[in-house]
Amino acid sequence: MIGAGIQIADATLAYGGKAVIEKLDLTIEAGTFLALLGPSGCGKSTLLNSIAGFVRPTGGTVSFNGALVTGPSRERGVVFQRDVLFPWATVAGNITFALRAAGVPRAERRARIAALLEAVDLSTEVSKKLPHELSGGMRQRVGIARALANSPQVLLMDEPFGALDAQTRSQMQDLVTDLWERTGTTIVFVTHDVDEAIRIASSIVVMTADGCIADRIVNPLPRPRPASRIAEFAEFAPLRRDLHELLRPAPRSLERSSGDRK
Ligand SMILES: Nc1ncnc2c1ncn2[C@@H]1O[C@H](COP(=O)(O)OP(=O)(O)O)[C@@H](O)[C@H]1O
Ligand SMILES: [Mg+2]
Repeated sequence: MIGAGIQIADATLAYGGKAVIEKLDLTIEAGTFLALLGPSGCGKSTLLNSIAGFVRPTGGTVSFNGALVTGPSRERGVVFQRDVLFPWATVAGNITFALRAAGVPRAERRARIAALLEAVDLSTEVSKKLPHELSGGMRQRVGIARALANSPQVLLMDEPFGALDAQTRSQMQDLVTDLWERTGTTIVFVTHDVDEAIRIASSIVVMTADGCIADRIVNPLPRPRPASRIAEFAEFAPLRRDLHELLRPAPRSLERSSGDRK
């Protein structure tokens, strides 16, 4: 039976006739916090964009809650690596765009903005600021708040913390984990960082450079997973080793490249 969640079946995703992903199958059950882990260029964003509805498969299907994905929808919210806030609008203005699109009546918007800012740990004073007055971490918080304004059933996050410093990144990982625990929203989180996947995800799909799924691993680490102590979990080192080994290019391709150099 096709249940709630995301079903990718025999999907081929291509640009200009050149396939990046071929005949891929992946099911993501509702409520999962899934990390899509893979090297740069392997097709993570392409796959995520097919769930968002920005990229259409040239073969196979992408479905959400049993219905074919044919374009973007408010039920599937997207958070990008670089925030895509309108630079000329205040924080409140940026969130208002999403609330208006979601059909939230004008009278309710102020309270919703306050609640959304609270959900991403921003004070209400921030609502009057322009994006350029905020730090990178704060802008990403606003980006998440704006995605949440649509009350999405799924959050699709494409390396959202890739441009942040380590400390801020760790705080943002806690924030997203909290959001997931509080709301039960399905999260598909793209990253090329093994440690980030281990820290936040419940389930990790490892993609190889050729756009295939190498493995899908249930994260055995208990929660909470504080940054300062995560390495102390007995399951941490073996999981980290397994993920790094899955990501390592196959020995054959190494041999070939060293042979090419002769
Ligand atoms: N709009 C596009 N047009 C043509 N090629 C693209 C486009 N977007 C991505 N690609 C190519 O598809 C491959 C996968 O890209 P992408 O999905 O962005 O990988 P990742 O997110 O894992 O880094 C790369 O070779 C990239 O150059
Ligand atoms: Mg990408």
